[in-house]
This record gives sequence, C-alpha cells and structure tokens, in this order.
Amino acid sequence: MNSYQLLDSGYFQKLEQIGPYKVVRQAPNAVWKPKLSQKQWQDVDAIFTRKSSGRGDWKILNKKLPELWPIEVQGINFNIRLTSFGHLGIFAEQESNWNLLKKVIQDSKIQDFKVLNLFAYTGGSTLACATAGADVVHLDASKTSNQWAKENANSSGLADANVRYITDDVVSFVQREIRRGNKYHGIILDPPSFGRGDRKQVWKIEEHLIPLLDQLKQLLEDNFKFILLSSHSPGYTPISLENLLKEIMPKNSEYLSEEMLIHDTTGKSLPSGAYCFAQITN
Ligand SMILES: C[S@@+](CC[C@H](N)C(=O)[O-])C[C@H]1O[C@@H](n2cnc3c(N)ncnc32)[C@H](O)[C@@H]1O
Repeated sequence: MNSYQLLDSGYFQKLEQIGPYKVVRQAPNAVWKPKLSQKQWQDVDAIFTRKSSGRGDWKILNKKLPELWPIEVQGINFNIRLTSFGHLGIFAEQESNWNLLKKVIQDSKIQDFKVLNLFAYTGGSTLACATAGADVVHLDASKTSNQWAKENANSSGLADANVRYITDDVVSFVQREIRRGNKYHGIILDPPSFGRGDRKQVWKIEEHLIPLLDQLKQLLEDNFKFILLSSHSPGYTPISLENLLKEIMPKNSEYLSEEMLIHDTTGKSLPSGAYCFAQITN
C-alpha cells in the first residue's frame, strides 16, 4: 500500500501508516485507550515528540528511512518529509473536503472556475481543485511550502495545470487583490492559530480572521459558488465556523459543518479539527 492509513490512536497519540513506513505522532484528541498491541505501536520507523515551543524531535528507529518518499492519495502524489513541527506534508483530515471541492467545481459547469487557496501549505486542496479543472491561486507565506506544493504538482502530472504559487502574507495579498479587482468563484482557507507572513507579519486567528473574512466578500464573483473554512484551533468548532461564514454568505446559501475526522483500521474516528463548507444553492 502506498497511501495514507491511520492504524490506531489512543493515549494522546496516533499510529499512522504512511506508504511503506509507520510513524507515531501526538494526537491531543485521542483521549481513549489504543486498540492495537503495544508491540504494534513499538514496531515503527519514527516517533515524534513535541516540545512546548511547538517544534519537537523525531526519534528515527529505522536507519534506512529516506528523507523524502512518495505516497498517493486521491490520485495526487504527495512527497512526505518529517518536519520539525511534526508535520509530514499532508493533512489527511482534509481528504473528504477534496471530494466536496471537486464536486462543486465540476457541477458548476463554469469554464474558467477560479479558486483562491489561502494558507495553502503543500497544496492538497490546490491540486484537488486543479484535477477538477479549476484555475488556482495558491498562497502561502512559506517559500518552502510553495516549493513543496510545486514538487507535489510535478509528481502528480499537474506541472502544467493552471496554478499560480504565490509567497505572500494573506492579509497583504487580499488587500492588494481587492485593489486589483480580481475575483474568484471559490475560496478555501485553513488559517492556523498563529502564523507569520512572508515579512514576519503576525497572524493571530482571534484578531485577524473576522476582518479577513469581511474583506474576502469583495473577492467573490457575482456567480461565486463556495467558501471552505477549516481550522484546528481550540474553540473553532463546526458551528463556530458556520456562524462566521453566515456573516458573509448571501441568503441563498447552505452549510455543511462537521468535525474533520480520520477513520482508523480499528473502527474509530479521530477528530482532527473542524470545517464549514458554505455553498450557494440555486
Ligand atoms: C495549517 S497549514 C494549512 C494546511 C493546508 N491547508 C493543507 O490542507 O494542506 C497553515 C499554513 O499557513 C501558512 N501561514 C501562516 N501564516 C500565514 C500568513 N500570515 N500568510 C500566509 N500564509 C501563512 C503557513 O506557512 C502554513 O503553510
């Protein structure tokens, strides 16, 4: 199997199969007991332990673990790396959102469907939209993430897709897009609790999300179709996200607001943040 699979979770950790390798990482929501044996939890290639700074250390148990290896999820090839934040280059909890994105783009019948993906990281949502034929503006403050997203596009046969990779601060970029008069049919945003723009501008979700959403209203095409807002921040529950989007969506909108879940091989689901998919009804 060359894909992603959550094997088990418990005692605030998750055991994941990432292509041929197994890793253990923190999972603050895994408040239950694990199902698989201690031996299965110990027979892994790497274990991440987080420090209070947010960064952490990988204990590499398999000396042959490569620096980078590919996995395939929904036809997209992700290059996996162990980062100092304990991230791997894929947020598996977004997988069901990629189906929603592809469906709304394909069902719209809009020829030049334009998507803006903010806080876009290594491009999972960007590439899902590109496979559905959309033109995507992929924005992240991190050059490294944008380079990684391009690599993922290349290995997924999407090097020629209509994607613009932009390294910028979300707030500054959105203000400039408003002045330029650019508009989009769909907007995706997955804001972190705290982040930095490309010139170290501070992003704090509590301070900056409401004004950002107000500004995004000005980037919507007359026939725009959706906004997808997701979050891993405490307090940003499915209904909280829905309440935020209701302030900017028109009356003829419908909302799908749920926990983001990763289903494991033992029948459990691991809550991994929340999303609200707001869509125009016709
Ligand atoms: C939680 S990740 C997003 C995950 C992504 N949506 C996915 O599903 O793969 C947050 C991203 O926001 C970026 N970021 C943080 N602050 C930012 C800012 N002020 N402007 C632009 N990007 C920012 C980080 O570089 C990081 O890649």
